[in-house]
Amino acid sequence: MIEQLDQLYQDALTTLETAASTAVLEAWYRDTLGRKGSVQLLTRQVGGLSPEERPAFGKRVNEVKEALQQAYDGRAEHLKLAEIEAAIARDTLDVTLPGRSTTHGNLHVATKTLREIYKIWADMGFQVFRSRDVETDEYNFELLNIPQHHPARDMWDTFHTLTPGVILRTHTSPGQIHAMRTYAPEAIRVILPGMCYRYEQITARSEIQFHQVEGLAVGKNITFADLKGTLTSFARRMFGEQRKVRFRANYFPFTEPSAEMDVECILCNGNGCNVCKHSGWLEILGCGMVHPNVFRNGGYDPEEYSGYAFGMGPERIAMLKYGIEDIRYFWGNDLRFLEQF
Ligand code: PHE
Repeated sequence: MIEQLDQLYQDALTTLETAASTAVLEAWYRDTLGRKGSVQLLTRQVGGLSPEERPAFGKRVNEVKEALQQAYDGRAEHLKLAEIEAAIARDTLDVTLPGRSTTHGNLHVATKTLREIYKIWADMGFQVFRSRDVETDEYNFELLNIPQHHPARDMWDTFHTLTPGVILRTHTSPGQIHAMRTYAPEAIRVILPGMCYRYEQITARSEIQFHQVEGLAVGKNITFADLKGTLTSFARRMFGEQRKVRFRANYFPFTEPSAEMDVECILCNGNGCNVCKHSGWLEILGCGMVHPNVFRNGGYDPEEYSGYAFGMGPERIAMLKYGIEDIRYFWGNDLRFLEQF
């Protein structure tokens, strides 16, 4: 029986050498070392041996089992490596191929400028107050001290709707009345950003739609000095600490007195260039002390309250800041322009 066992051992080793895949290897294991495998079957015949022969046979069985197990482990390891190598050779990956980059958008230059403006006013304690784009003639003009047939209406060419008295706002100033009627008789410090619409010839300098950022401060004992100081501070934060500003007298029906603020040209530092038309100054906003009639319309007693208002155009500011020559680029949806900011 020992010879039979040794024969079995030799045969098993030979078949193991030829096992070329894990599947064949597993089958070999089942047939040889498994519970119903050839070694096990032979071992069961131990009963046919004489008691003296049994220990030697038992010992040999154990040696054979151990040797076969070792041979099996070695073969399994060898096959595993071979399969990995085959997979590597088959599934080549070219790591030198250029990747596909994902395109991502960025904020519109007008949005960026608006956010910069919001931040500066927020730092100075001004909240954002929003009001509607579609307005009534009453809010856009009459309550702002511009009655029907007032010659100052020429300052704002208006888009009318088919509904009489309903128009697109020509400026953010009607928001002043909305804010006052919301907060009266409290003090107010708000900015009112939004899109405005004017029925104008579209040129490099004027669009039919553009943003404005209105500002409104209402309280007791607010003076023209507060207006000048606050707006000067805004200009320094927006355009740099050293930037000079100047105020020029002007006329708006809803403020008295009224002014316009210029900043020293940011492109030529006041030396004179094409953008500032060689004056060294750029006009950036209109402003003034809130008119008593506007206070009354907003629900404040002008004897008790005072305040200032201003209105600026962020696209104009962006044009000056980035040297953009044509306002039509803003809403032209040309990515080559938009991607630059
Ligand atoms: N609403 C004015 C305009 O559109 C600007 C302005 C706002 C002036 C507030 C004074 C006070 O031109």
